[in-house]
Amino acid sequence: MLKRFTISMDEKLLDDFDNYIRQRKYVNRSEAVRDLIRSAFVETEWQTDKQVMGVISMVYDHHQHQLQEKVTEMQHDYHRQVVSTTHVHMDHHNCLEVIIVKGKADSVAELADRLSSQRGVRNCKLAMSTTGKNLY
Ligand code: NI
Repeated sequence: MLKRFTISMDEKLLDDFDNYIRQRKYVNRSEAVRDLIRSAFVETEWQTDKQVMGVISMVYDHHQHQLQEKVTEMQHDYHRQVVSTTHVHMDHHNCLEVIIVKGKADSVAELADRLSSQRGVRNCKLAMSTTGKNLY
């Protein structure tokens, strides 16, 4: 059931919020507020030991000595967390790997950190999401 409530805020903050809404192509303020609340809840979930889901995306140089092997080995070390991996050969040097992960927040974040700190990894990002159990 949808419930209505009123929010009071400073005019400048509301102007900035309306600009934000336009840039992000939101249909109205309500949808934007709902999205912000949901993403705050997802972030809170990631600070607990709850089950979470996420995506690690990384770009690395496969010519870097043994990096490809290390990346694969680490994913085997975290086989309980790794749901699926997609590998794309971007160009002669670079590979993009997208890893879907699931598990306790700290173990998933640990894998992302370990991958990220390898020499030859140019970019590594963890996109936090949720198992969906607590989604509204
Ligand atoms: Ni490749």
